[in-house]
Amino acid sequence: MRKILLVFLLGVTFILTGCERPAFQKAQSGFRGTGMADIQNPRITAEKVKQNELPPSTGLAPGDGPKASEVYKNVKVLGNLSQAQFTTFMVSMTNWVAPKEGCSYCHNVANFAEDEKYTKIVSRRMIQMNQNINANWKDHVQGTGVTCYTCHRGNHIPQNVWFKDVPQGISGPALGQRNGQNAPAASVAYSSLTNEPFSKYLLQSNPARIIGKEGLPNGNVHSLQETEHVYGIMMHFSKSLGVNCTYCHNSRAFSDWSQSSPQRGQAWFGIQMVKDINNTYMEPLTATFPAHRLGGTGDVAKANCSTCHQGANKPLYGKSMLADYPYLAQQYSETKKVGTSLVAK
Ligand code: HEC
Ligand code: HEC
Ligand code: HEC
Ligand code: HEC
Repeated sequence: MRKILLVFLLGVTFILTGCERPAFQKAQSGFRGTGMADIQNPRITAEKVKQNELPPSTGLAPGDGPKASEVYKNVKVLGNLSQAQFTTFMVSMTNWVAPKEGCSYCHNVANFAEDEKYTKIVSRRMIQMNQNINANWKDHVQGTGVTCYTCHRGNHIPQNVWFKDVPQGISGPALGQRNGQNAPAASVAYSSLTNEPFSKYLLQSNPARIIGKEGLPNGNVHSLQETEHVYGIMMHFSKSLGVNCTYCHNSRAFSDWSQSSPQRGQAWFGIQMVKDINNTYMEPLTATFPAHRLGGTGDVAKANCSTCHQGANKPLYGKSMLADYPYLAQQYSETKKVGTSLVAK
């Protein structure tokens, strides 16, 4: 009897520790009566706010004096910076990406002009990517913008990146593709939906749309599998931003833009921006990376929503670092916008 009681009590403890303590904070995010509300646990939010503090500001370095292009030998992207800005930026980049290793993570310190380390070549491209995001994707990043720190936060590789799925059968390839299902992963909030919806929506250009415009029999042409893919990527959105579905949607009409919050429109531009990041910058860098940095199918690590957001509705809770680094927001024209219309196909 005692044993049964003990097992019962252990069971109850086990179940209850999976619950979150109230009281939650609830904020209305849509029209009254639509149930569009954002529900947050203040204890979790407080922890996240702490994790999302900015590194100390360097202040804006003076822009006068000789330009970096005149002082140094091999400056291809940052030539317009003053020497003071250039030096400040090298120190900041070091703190953001390689705080332990220092300058030598990217440089042969006997000759800073040399391009022998892949990390330097990648960084040059990352600077251009950063400028492209801030200058050409304002529909998403607004004036807040991003720096290397938004993604890297002191790590060589950002904490949240993704690789293509390595195909796996149920028990050997003969029994078919598991399609990443029933293998719960953090990327899709531990749902049993496909755990790699990223290739489809954040690399290739597929609109995440599955709701039919007419009733049956002509109605919905979308398959169950497509539906699961859309719900997989939506779970990723919610998890990455730390919000509910109703932060963006009115759940009585998921597809209807006129009943959605403005955040859904901003999210749509986010999808297009991430495709640009992955197609224009990450994929072409594949051959630059050493083999041990690549994934199971030989692909480069790519960005998704959590690469920047890391659980916050706005990365770093909407604090901008660009005042110290205005050159990271300068107009930079090279961009391929993938998908340009909000109109459903
Ligand atoms: C994360 C990679 C990275 C780190 C860390 C880094 N640099 Fe750089 N550095 C670069 C890149 C990329 C360039 C080329 C910029 C360009 O082409 O516009 C560069 C160029 C330079 C140059 C110009 C050399 C020349 O003559 O062409 C100097 C000097 C320099 N860095 C100094 C430093 C110092 C000092 C540190 C440490 C405080 C440092 N860097 C840390 C990536 C890095
Ligand atoms: C949108 C997010 C994002 C931003 C912003 C960003 N990076 Fe990256 N960076 C990545 C991803 C993703 C990888 C991983 C690629 C891989 O390992 O295959 C990466 C890899 C790197 C690497 C290679 C590290 C290694 O050890 O292999 C360097 C160096 C780097 N970034 C420097 C920078 C610098 C410098 C900046 C700012 C000018 C910057 N990054 C901004 C996403 C970002
Ligand atoms: C950050 C905003 C955001 C969040 C959070 C979000 N969605 Fe979405 N959702 C979108 C966007 C944007 C689209 C349109 C994507 C496109 O057109 O490629 C979309 C599309 C959809 C669609 C397809 C609509 C159609 O026209 O066929 C469904 C269904 C959906 N979401 C369900 C959900 C569910 C369920 C959740 C919560 C697990 C959720 N969404 C969370 C932004 C969001
Ligand atoms: C390169 C970094 C980056 C990536 C990747 C990124 N975002 Fe953002 N996002 C931002 C920044 C910066 C802001 C803050 C802009 C502002 O001040 O409104 C933001 C804001 C948002 C907002 C507005 C939140 C609010 O409370 O108003 C939504 C919604 C959003 N992002 C969704 C997404 C989705 C969905 C994805 C993936 C498809 C994504 N983001 C990928 C940088 C990023």
